[in-house]
Amino acid sequence: MKNMTASTPVTISEKLKWLKHRYWKFGDEENFDDYLMDLFEVDDEGHRTAEPRFDPLTRETKGLMFLGASDNGKTAFLMRALRVDPVLREFNIDQGGNTLYITVPPEASIKNLAEIILKKTGYTKVHAKLRAADAWELARHRFGVVGIKALVIDECHHIFRPGAGRDIPAAIQALKHIMQSEHRVALIIAGVPSLKDAILSEVSGETARRFIEFSMARIRPGSRGAATFGRNFVKSANFLGLQVAEEDALPDRILFAEHGQVGASVGLGKEILRAAISRRRDAITLDAAERVYRKSNAGLDMTPFDSAEWDVVKSELTSIGWGQ
Ligand SMILES: Nc1ncnc2c1ncn2[C@@H]1O[C@H](COP(=O)(O)OP(=O)(O)OP(=O)(O)O)[C@@H](O)[C@H]1O
Ligand SMILES: [Mg+2]
Repeated sequence: MKNMTASTPVTISEKLKWLKHRYWKFGDEENFDDYLMDLFEVDDEGHRTAEPRFDPLTRETKGLMFLGASDNGKTAFLMRALRVDPVLREFNIDQGGNTLYITVPPEASIKNLAEIILKKTGYTKVHAKLRAADAWELARHRFGVVGIKALVIDECHHIFRPGAGRDIPAAIQALKHIMQSEHRVALIIAGVPSLKDAILSEVSGETARRFIEFSMARIRPGSRGAATFGRNFVKSANFLGLQVAEEDALPDRILFAEHGQVGASVGLGKEILRAAISRRRDAITLDAAERVYRKSNAGLDMTPFDSAEWDVVKSELTSIGWGQ
């Protein structure tokens, strides 16, 4: 929530643009940073460096598996972590950087993935007949050439889709080999929970054990994450000139409505703010929030945005099994 004071948005389009760009922290950010400490070397002041942690006895670096249900906010989380990191900088061919961020397209094979890395690191002479293993060898070599210290593979589960011509054991091995590159790189893979199952399908378990695991949890009612979410929501609303009545417990209702799922809760929260801005409102009422919610949840008798007191609504909805 930095830069809030940089320039106050005035027009509707300025406000909507400002809102779109807001990342709302929910408390897991510091926790993730702690995991990164295990992936990289630390200097004598105790600061994490961009140098991957390396085991000289095996010549291997380490990996991190980042898991969360779809729409949970993994991509937003990882990209934000990269934006604010003191030492990791996203690589692009014009500006350089030490962290390569790639997103696996749904149909990609393991060879395609190597080709994506080659292309992103400026290697354009890829031969159509190149074998997957050779493409990977080239890709690992590129890390050293352009100075990549960390590789982030988002939507990594896509390389494990079953189907003709797909070689899941080879895909698992390719991940392991990244951590054995001559030019050391730390590996972060992100995906839905089935990503872990896919990697565990390797009988020897040799690839899985090279990863530490970070799972995105739901935001639980009353938790520090819930308080942080509430603060972000109210701060953003006020900054946009919208009043929020504390007794309405809007953030709690949003989290409850979306079962504490980060991406969905942020999505609903922003949609409620957006609806108010575009209609030039100066406050957010329960009624307005309910209207937004019903647009994607039609046919409910009672919603978490019912006009009764939050405690009453919550027990009523809980008793009919909401959130189970
Ligand atoms: N903390 C956050 N602050 C602001 N927006 C967020 C936050 N978390 C998620 N979002 C938004 O929620 C939506 C879903 O998040 P995201 O795409 O990161 O989820 P995902 O876990 O990567 O999903 P998928 O597995 O489908 O790729 C996006 O529109 C994203 O911008
Ligand atoms: Mg994603």
